[in-house]
Parts: sequence; C-alpha cells; structure tokens
Amino acid sequence: MSIPRAAYPPPFNTTRASHAVLTVKDLGASRAFYVDAMGFVVSEEDGEAIYLRGLEEACHHSLVLKRCDGPPVCERIGLRVYTEDDLERAKSHFERAGLPARFVDVPHHGRTLHVADAVGTPLELCATMTTMPRMVVQFQAFKGPCPHRIDHFQVVTPEVQRACDFYAEMGFRLSEYIAVDGTDDLVFVFLQRKGNPHDIVFAGGAGPRLHHVAFTVPDAQHIIHACDVAGSFGFGTHLEHGPARHGPGHALFAYFRDPDGHRVELFNTHYQMMDIENEPVRWNLSYMRNRPWGLPPRAKWFREASPFAGIAPTEPARPGAPFTLEKFLLEAQ
Ligand SMILES: [Fe+2]
Repeated sequence: MSIPRAAYPPPFNTTRASHAVLTVKDLGASRAFYVDAMGFVVSEEDGEAIYLRGLEEACHHSLVLKRCDGPPVCERIGLRVYTEDDLERAKSHFERAGLPARFVDVPHHGRTLHVADAVGTPLELCATMTTMPRMVVQFQAFKGPCPHRIDHFQVVTPEVQRACDFYAEMGFRLSEYIAVDGTDDLVFVFLQRKGNPHDIVFAGGAGPRLHHVAFTVPDAQHIIHACDVAGSFGFGTHLEHGPARHGPGHALFAYFRDPDGHRVELFNTHYQMMDIENEPVRWNLSYMRNRPWGLPPRAKWFREASPFAGIAPTEPARPGAPFTLEKFLLEAQ
C-alpha cells in the first residue's frame, strides 16, 4: 500500500466534478424534494426528466433526474475537462489503460466521452454544456438551503488503493485520506482537481456504487434551515446524518436521502488546496470513534448506496467494521 503522487502535468486536464445522472420513480416526488424543499433551480423539465442546477451555476445542469420504471440507479457521474482537445487526450489515456472509451451525444453537452474508471465507475466527460443564467444575485429565486453548486461525489469501492492510484495518474491530488491506524491501508481517499479538498471521494465497501453527491450552501445557518424546510415539506425523516462537522475537509454538513434513496450532502464550505508543497492530510480510522463532538453515522450510511446502472457490486475481500451510531449507543448504555 502506498500514497501516490499526482501526475504532473496530467495526461488530460480534468477541471471539476460536473454532474450526476440519477433515475427516479416519480418525477413529481423528486421535484417536491429537490425543487420545493432543497431549492434547486429547474433548467428544463418534461414528463421524462428534470434538469437541475445550483444558484451559482451557469451550466445547464449539475443534476439530471430521469424517470424510470425499474429500481432507481445512478446512470453516470460527470467530470468536466477544460477543452475538447482534453477529451481526445482522455480517450487515448483510458484506451492505453485498457478501458474502452466512446464518444456519444448527450443533450445540452458538447462532445461527450463515456468510459468507466479502473474500479468500474461509469463516467461521462465533457468540456462544454449549454449555458444558463447564473442566479447568484437573483435573490428572489433563493429558496430553502439555497444550493449553490455541485462540489463532489463519493463512490464506494472494494478497491480504494486502486482507485486512488488511477485518479492520481489522471492528475488528481490527494488532499486527505483515512487509513487503518499504524498502516497505509486506505479506507477513504479524498481526491481533487479544482483546488479544494475533493472532486471525488472513494470509500471502502461493496461497489462500485454512488454514495452521495454533494452541493455547497452559503453558510452553516443554511444547513439548519435545510432541516427546517425539509421537515415543513414532510421530508424530516429523510435527514440521515448530521448536522455535524466532518473530520476530513472540516465542513459542516447534513445528508438527506431523496424519495428514491439517492443520498445528497449539503455542506457549507471548503478550504483551498493548490500549493505544490501541500502534503495530503492523514487521518487514522480510529478518529471516527474519537470525534471532538457529534454522533457517528448510522449503519445504513455506511451500508447503503445507489447502484450504478447495470453494474453488480463486488464485495470487499475484508468487510469493514465501521463505528456506527448503533455501536455508539450500545457502548453509551
Ligand atoms: Fe461528501
């Protein structure tokens, strides 16, 4: 096990986490959650899909909800690259790694590359999207927790080290990581391209599966307000974990489950991480038992995640034994 260095210069220029494509059973229920309660901006909607964006986003969408009849899944997570030339370089990079890549047409995207990463996460890379008005000073449109922009994804995989190595080769920098005490056995890795702690996080477990998509809100008060507004709209029981403060990344956060079980994180802010001399911050796994304050996540936060379409998760060789809220309460008796 080892902590990899980011490739510099990168083989192609990934700029940020871009969007997620989720399927849902009832667009009306999804609209009530994401638009009425969570305050997302609707870029476009019809009987088959809703395209959503945050208040500061000038792109067409950061979240796509597609109506489905089968079990809800995540179709793909999206990454932005800087130019169309980067897409060509990305295609060559993935193909050199033995990973098939193909260009596809996706509504409201420029040229788009479909590929899976080394641990099977289905990705969608594009350089451009249809632009939309940035609503960041349209204060009359601010509702609920006022989500401003997508920030990162968390993916569950039984191969955290392999994912970390693969993304480092793509130029992603490791900002923080959680390892088993006394070893470099990686349990969580926080990887970034845009200059804050994460664009994509990999966590140990059966996968690949999508654990959550995270969006920024303006400040801590908006996280509390999210809970109040969700409760007023009948989504109070959809709050799964938090409000609380993370160790890695330090943000204040709350996790909600949408009507189909997809997990959304709202958090307040992150620090910058750009300077070349910044080394990854290490956390021992035991920190989860020794938090400065707050309760650990309930077991289902560790166990449950959205499947990726058509991909059967692989179980890890050694199942984890996370410190859960249930264990905390048993020990506290
Ligand atoms: Fe997160």
